[in-house]
Amino acid sequence: MGIKIIGTGSYVPDKVLTNHDLEKMVDTSDEWIRTRTGIVERRIASDNEASSDMAYKASVRAMEFARIKPDDLDLIVVATITSDRITPSTACILQSKLKAYNAACFDLQAACTGFLYSLEIVNALMSTNPTYRKALIIGVEKLSMLTDWKDRNTCVLFGDGAGAVILEKRAGKHDIGGILASKLASNGSYNDLIKVPAGGSAIPTSPETIKKRMHYLSMEGQEVFKLAVNEMAKACQDVLSRAKVDISEVRWLIPHQANLRIIHAVGKKLEIPSEKVYINVHMYGNTSAASVVIALDEIVRTGKIDRGDYVLLTAFGAGITWGANLLRW
Ligand code: ACO
Repeated sequence: MGIKIIGTGSYVPDKVLTNHDLEKMVDTSDEWIRTRTGIVERRIASDNEASSDMAYKASVRAMEFARIKPDDLDLIVVATITSDRITPSTACILQSKLKAYNAACFDLQAACTGFLYSLEIVNALMSTNPTYRKALIIGVEKLSMLTDWKDRNTCVLFGDGAGAVILEKRAGKHDIGGILASKLASNGSYNDLIKVPAGGSAIPTSPETIKKRMHYLSMEGQEVFKLAVNEMAKACQDVLSRAKVDISEVRWLIPHQANLRIIHAVGKKLEIPSEKVYINVHMYGNTSAASVVIALDEIVRTGKIDRGDYVLLTAFGAGITWGANLLRW
């Protein structure tokens, strides 16, 4: 018996913000952004487009792919750091947009690793509780709202978008694969490395916090870089060895799309050929929890995956959190 992905979908907003557009906003250059990050452009949601709106579009596509109806869903999990509101959860708002009233709904916050965390948690729930037969997981971010468009250190990095998968418990004798192994990890002693300083219970919103621009994402880029490469590679090795799968058998490595140099470094550490490492960071930048699942949907929809293929997902983000999932398609 396996918990299998039976449908994928994604959505990115129409508005494209290029490196040349950013040259007009802060002291940067297309050349700096390309060589340091690999990013060429990113998508930006409109003012009246919330995370739940993007999640809705990705979810509808995934449900059409899986040929299921909203009523079939038993669980909806939204991985995000940009929820529509502090409360209720974006998953509940999405539930009402989808009219999927048979589902239990919650949000999960593990920053860029949120989709990977959600996959393992839903896998565990579906494996142990027979009432969860079909689940919808979404990674979605409207990072443009957390971006300080006056800070060149961060504003060139992020973008908006959503990706979704439908999971189903399969028990037929021809049903191979599913989620074979997962590694979820965190080290909260690095909680200061990537953060939005104000707006929570520690430092509530005030005229002062707004004046000091404390509601935007700040990041210690270089420190994050070093940790990201080492931890993602180790997490991948962990799931491969537990599943007794060699890296040479993996059809796709889908790393979090934060920075092309990080992606290349992880691929090199794992000794996987570069043509098996999926890259779309040039088109969307870092979309945090949405990044890996948007990439997965692109691979599926362009026919670059076959039944039985091994797919290795890995991500790293604020917390710090990191992890890997090994899937068999
Ligand atoms: N344009 C031009 N110059 C810039 C820019 C810019 N946009 N940004 C920074 N610089 C300058 C800096 O000021 C610095 O100048 P100085 O030497 O005069 O001080 C110089 O460029 C080098 O800056 P570094 O920070 O050393 O640049 P680095 O090569 O480390 O690249 C980057 C920075 C792209 C942020 C990289 O460190 C990185 O990708 N880190 C990892 C990010 C990541 O993976 N995040 C994942 C989690 S995100 C989440 O959870 C939401």
